[in-house]
Amino acid sequence: MGIQITPSILNADFSRLGEEVARIPSADWIHVDVMDNHFVPNLTFGPTMVEALARSTDTPLDAHLMIEDPDRHAPAYVEAGCGSVTFHVEAAKAPVRLAREIRAAGGRASMALKPATPVEPYEDLLPELDMLLLMTVEPGFGGQKFLDLVLPKIRRARALMAKHGVETWLQVDGGVSLETIERCAEAGADVFVAGSAVYSAQDPDAMVESLRAAAQG
Ligand code: DX5
Ligand code: ZN
Repeated sequence: MGIQITPSILNADFSRLGEEVARIPSADWIHVDVMDNHFVPNLTFGPTMVEALARSTDTPLDAHLMIEDPDRHAPAYVEAGCGSVTFHVEAAKAPVRLAREIRAAGGRASMALKPATPVEPYEDLLPELDMLLLMTVEPGFGGQKFLDLVLPKIRRARALMAKHGVETWLQVDGGVSLETIERCAEAGADVFVAGSAVYSAQDPDAMVESLRAAAQG
């Protein structure tokens, strides 16, 4: 599939999300951060808002669920129109069943790991996943500093994918910018979430293309 850039709307203007998304036609996906004030200390939006956003754009939506009990809530995001739904393994009760349910509903199944969660215990799950998200900040807020300590885990995850012969995409999220994206790409990531880097740029769509060029090296 190659390099993909998935801008996060977390730092966009929530009062006009449709227009904010329309500003970045070069995006491969739009990353929507769903937060519940429990799994993370921040609150954003739920499936109704996501469904409205999905109707307003042709760009596919990539939902990142930072919520408790994703086992119960994740399939609703496929129904809301998301092409990809990511749940956190730290919150999931039955990650294999959940990944299968997301796929059965017609979505790409993705699992996220916080910075301190190791990847090795989950290597046998890789064939169940269309994407693995390695957080490069603690989830909850945009605009945080990239955590270099995750780079070795990106390398190990990429090696495990090769070992299992899977086509799982490897996404990074948090502090991804022109300064950090090359390090992530060299370590083996191929899907890049960027929030503040895109929406604080004067020309957000040009920034998407610059990030893509930097990741391609
Ligand atoms: C953080 C979110 C990210 C956030 C990234 O918990 O999951 O998607 O929007 O924002 P930046 O790119 O500013 O770190
Ligand atoms: Zn996110």
